[in-house]
Amino acid sequence: MDVPMPKSSRARRRSSSMVIAALLTGLATACGGSAISGEQPASQAAGGPATIGLVVPKSGVYAPLGADMENGFKLYLDQHGGKLGGKEIDLKVSDEGEGPQTGVPAATKLVTQDKAGAVVGIVNSATALGLRDTFIESKVPLIIANAGADDVTTSGGSPYIWRTSFTNNAVGASLGAEVAKQVGGEPVYLITADYAAGKEMVGGFKKAFEDAGGKVAGEAYTPFGTTKDFQPYLSKIKGTGAKAVFCFYAGAEAVGFVKQYDQFGLSGDLPLFGTGFVTEGAVLDAQGAAAVGTQTSLHYSDLIDSPKNKEFVTAYQAAFKEAPTVYAVQAYDAAAVLDAALAKAATTDGEAISKALAEIGAVDSPRGTWTFDAEHDPEQPYYLRKVEERSGAYVNALVSELAKG
Ligand code: BEZ
Repeated sequence: MDVPMPKSSRARRRSSSMVIAALLTGLATACGGSAISGEQPASQAAGGPATIGLVVPKSGVYAPLGADMENGFKLYLDQHGGKLGGKEIDLKVSDEGEGPQTGVPAATKLVTQDKAGAVVGIVNSATALGLRDTFIESKVPLIIANAGADDVTTSGGSPYIWRTSFTNNAVGASLGAEVAKQVGGEPVYLITADYAAGKEMVGGFKKAFEDAGGKVAGEAYTPFGTTKDFQPYLSKIKGTGAKAVFCFYAGAEAVGFVKQYDQFGLSGDLPLFGTGFVTEGAVLDAQGAAAVGTQTSLHYSDLIDSPKNKEFVTAYQAAFKEAPTVYAVQAYDAAAVLDAALAKAATTDGEAISKALAEIGAVDSPRGTWTFDAEHDPEQPYYLRKVEERSGAYVNALVSELAKG
């Protein structure tokens, strides 16, 4: 990807992921494994069903994102007769919960006890950071279908770590030059959930924005998962002289933030920008009129005008009675890459699947065709979207493809 990838703060983040990895070894033992091991049962190696794990939040602030991901993965599976690469799939679904305390043991159990040949999912960046070393050690591929934590891939590629979503830095950076152009030299305030994803998305945005001549008026980091009242943060913004705001929130936090931004009278004066998660899917229905005019960057909109996307949107709507989201597409594509890999893999064990993942080439997706880059992140375009009301419904209208940084 042609976006700035700051490496300076990586060592610090890497060391925290190593602490979590050390805790995991204990967790894996507690879960019944003698150590972290991806050794496969005879049935998998001998051509029985392939066990695949799907770990998504079913509880906590990101539960709606998890539901979309499960829908996307299962839609692909249903469209392929319950098989991937022509092999029967034994799908084991686990609850990621809100963060690493629940997500790490859930994914670890799929490797140590269920002997999954690959694990898909993971919404939260902190959970992904906590799992990275476990999967590398167990030689089982982890296909991350949302969490964007930069270090999971950019701290050194691994044959066992893949991502069908984005890096936090890239999705934040994609909007920097555009906002600098729109505000024309006026200062912008940055506000986000205080954890890896928020810090990295704001970091990516800030660098690209400042590189394009933008000025930052101030920054605020709100406690993740517990902030319900944003007023103490919102009330300070105007006093900084900011003329616009950039943010990252998702799930329930995105609903609270955007509604309060409007209630406290900011939306009339200070245009709101953000990464696309802030207005994606069910959260946009809940935000309603409060979100109108919000501009975001993302690698998907259900309004992409291509035959592949139209076919996907129709099938998704028929199955789930709602429009698909980026979360559904990322998981749908994770099933597609596993389909291609399992078709090439000699067996259904982790080593064989990892090797085959490196050979699959371009992915024909509802978001457009994309490929894995050298660090196993998607090489993909980002779009500028703007929330509009159309016939009584709220949509992320596609404005343009964003220039690469
Ligand atoms: C993350 O933690 O990486 C994340 C969560 C929700 C939306 C986007 C990113």
